Amino acid sequence: MPIASVTQLKLSGQHVLLRCDFNVPLADRTISDTGRIDASLPTIRYVMEQGGIAVLCSHLGRPKERTPALSLKPVADYLSEVLARKVALAPDCIGEVTGRMISALKPGDALLLENLRFHAEEEANDRDFAHELARGKQAYLNDAFGTAHRAHASTVGVTAFVAERAAGFLMMKELDALRAVTENPARPSVAIMGGAKVSDKIGVIRNLLTKVDAILIGGAMAYTFLKARGIVTGRSRVEEDKLELARELVAEAERKGVRMVLPSDHVVASAPEAGALTRTVTDIPGDLMGLDIGPTTIEQFKSEIARAKTVVWNGPLGFFELPEFAHGTLAVGEALANADGVKSIIGGGDTAAAVAHAPWASRFTHISTGGGATLEYLEGRVLPGVKALES
Ligand code: 3PG
Repeated sequence: MPIASVTQLKLSGQHVLLRCDFNVPLADRTISDTGRIDASLPTIRYVMEQGGIAVLCSHLGRPKERTPALSLKPVADYLSEVLARKVALAPDCIGEVTGRMISALKPGDALLLENLRFHAEEEANDRDFAHELARGKQAYLNDAFGTAHRAHASTVGVTAFVAERAAGFLMMKELDALRAVTENPARPSVAIMGGAKVSDKIGVIRNLLTKVDAILIGGAMAYTFLKARGIVTGRSRVEEDKLELARELVAEAERKGVRMVLPSDHVVASAPEAGALTRTVTDIPGDLMGLDIGPTTIEQFKSEIARAKTVVWNGPLGFFELPEFAHGTLAVGEALANADGVKSIIGGGDTAAAVAHAPWASRFTHISTGGGATLEYLEGRVLPGVKALES
């Protein structure tokens, strides 16, 4: 079903409720990564330039009630700075005072509503709360791809109470990028999967096995696959209760003709600790654990990337938080960013955190702002926040 884009709406003079995902990391009330806010600036600017009245809303964290430490004030301050005009923070997302602040806005103004999750009704997708959120707004825009997997009042319920609804530029960009992976991807198409647990990625691996030509596995979850194949993994992190599942996934890949590439060498240490003594091995000694992919595996992954036309990557390939074990993730990331003629789609969450600040990161086709939302999309699930935008 088609989704209207922000460019199809008449915005001039309209009150537009713009759902963003401003769920950014805070350290002592300071935003430590503004990436998600920056990603929605084109939509916010567009609404303002078209003479719309931008009423911005978002959640922050997982409060169960009003929690001052999770106020969106730092976001309002940051928006005022980057938009070079005052973006005030309303004291609440609904209610009389907020309503009066909204009424006082002029075309081209923007106001940020306080954290939606200060009301339990937001997550409960409460109908009356959704109605209140929509009060006085003629249009609804959703740019919060990162929250599209949540059926909440501000992502789903509210759409029943506004005359017009559409996706913002970020939402459109995210969906286009992910469709390039799941709908007729340019071939060869390759998935790089990493992260700690097979159990977190079962749905994604199963779904991608129907879309890709090869799947390259790194990160701690590779050890579960290796052990399932009877390879000695020493003290590496293995999900013992997922060995059977790993065998099933290997068999499924074989049946579907998808090449599954597992690491053939490893950077090992006695523990994932800063300053740990590391070495590279092909057979993991009994007292050591694998913490990164080794140089031969890096070369193997690079040659798969060089042949590919589409690559989707989800999950770091080693214990990237420590520089001792980040080399595999960074070397493969750099090769992918620099690969010619390859559409490179980077999943959000940990994968984005691992590579987003590297000097070559801007060369990826797309780095998703979604963590859970991207995973659910890649699992082939319908995202309620996207469905609710369909006309
Ligand atoms: C995210 O960070 O993945 C989104 O903002 C959704 O947040 P949530 O997992 O708290 O719903």
